[in-house]
Amino acid sequence: MLSGLKVDAITKHRVRCASLLIVLGVLMATSPVVLAVDVESIDWSKVPVNKPRLYYPGQSSYQWLRTAEHKKATEETKAGEACLRCHKGEQKSLGGILVVENRLEPDPIEDKSGYKRLSVQAAHDDQNLYMRFSWKTDGEGPGNIGNLMRFDGSEWAWWGNHRQHEAVIDEGQPAIYPDRLGIMIGDAKVEFYPEQGCWMTCHDSLLGMPEQADEDEVGEHPVIGQVFKKIGIDVTNHIVRKYLPGSRSEGTEWAAVKSEDELMALRKEGAFLDLIIWDASLTNPAGIAADFNVLEIKTVDEGTSALYPNGKTIWGPKYMFDEGKVGFSALTEADIGDPAKPKHLIVGQNTAPLDAGKIKEGDLLPAHILDTGSAEGSAADIDYAKGALEGGKYTVVIRRKLDTGHPLDDKVLKVGGVYTFGFSIHDDAVGMRGHHVSFPVTVSIGPGKADIQATTLN
Ligand code: HEC
Repeated sequence: MLSGLKVDAITKHRVRCASLLIVLGVLMATSPVVLAVDVESIDWSKVPVNKPRLYYPGQSSYQWLRTAEHKKATEETKAGEACLRCHKGEQKSLGGILVVENRLEPDPIEDKSGYKRLSVQAAHDDQNLYMRFSWKTDGEGPGNIGNLMRFDGSEWAWWGNHRQHEAVIDEGQPAIYPDRLGIMIGDAKVEFYPEQGCWMTCHDSLLGMPEQADEDEVGEHPVIGQVFKKIGIDVTNHIVRKYLPGSRSEGTEWAAVKSEDELMALRKEGAFLDLIIWDASLTNPAGIAADFNVLEIKTVDEGTSALYPNGKTIWGPKYMFDEGKVGFSALTEADIGDPAKPKHLIVGQNTAPLDAGKIKEGDLLPAHILDTGSAEGSAADIDYAKGALEGGKYTVVIRRKLDTGHPLDDKVLKVGGVYTFGFSIHDDAVGMRGHHVSFPVTVSIGPGKADIQATTLN
């Protein structure tokens, strides 16, 4: 029990009807009073801190882990043995091996650290799970810009990228890529997830992996090629993103997606993963996080996300800055280091429809917009996620309903339940595999047999 917490008043309806009062009385007598604390007044100094060890995984995919190269562990991994059974306390040494050039990292990132501690605190009440994270960034400054598009006088093109991208390595583009925190949530309903965590979703066919799928084939695929089109975006970069082996009809082949009915049956059983991504650039300016799920592919939850590409095709923006509000229509390269200049397009605050007449060669515009006003449904569930970078250390607080009411793409968390979480950090302008990841971490909602026990508030 924590004292000193401000409690939100339960909705103060004036109950005019006497019979309703009676119903209410019965409800309150039979079920616990549903209260939600004010997330901003949680006293985190009273919540225990757990510090999962994150490390650089290179290309240690689901498939690699099952090859003979994963010496003395091939059969065990295939049988679902937990990574931590053999690798407890080895995160730092694994990360040290994998972050420099080695059989699982053909393109090492210069000076990247192989290891990171993430501080995690968790608390809950009857309605919500609250999590607080902090970590030291590898970046020299805030990774809160990006992605950007640049106008070259006739066309728009993506400008700046992550540090393992050829545009940065070979073409001299700047390494600009947002910092972010990923939280994957699931349980034993996904085979081997409690034992092998995030590695259940990471395959050789993914972007940046040794057998990256052919873009044309992905584009033509009736399911995987539709991920972006489904939300009305016609993009040309067809890539395979995280997926679960259980969603495939032939082994783990990316193209062998089970039928729609089979996938729906898996969703109904809860055999998918929930994935929340807090992003210093793409979501934090609106105080939210993005809500994804992973089954046949990593995809945004149903409904309308507040985070959207700026334009139906990422190669032509729809919005620019509102000159009347911020003093300019587009950014320039020189503005990137100027903290006084806004770097994010927030609909309703600082945007105007693109006016090509106001755009000059070399102008830059954010490749995404944030529009909380039109966000709705499951995609808009994480409506509180705020972070800040101070003295090289990020602190992020996220609120998530225990039961979002969207059981087909969000994990339903119950008080007393134990779940498996996986954490990832991308920082210092890295993308794809360039992150630090945790082995599976158990989290209980309230007291329980788990690495992290969410403190019961109120
Ligand atoms: C049965 C024990 C066992 C299990 C289970 C196991 N490993 Fe291993 N793993 C090993 C051993 C032993 C090695 C060392 C092999 C070597 O030296 O080449 C190894 C090597 C590795 C390496 C390569 C490190 C290097 O030196 O290149 C990675 C990465 C790795 N394991 C990740 C994992 C992950 C992720 C899991 C869970 C999905 C896992 N392992 C499960 C025993 C295990």
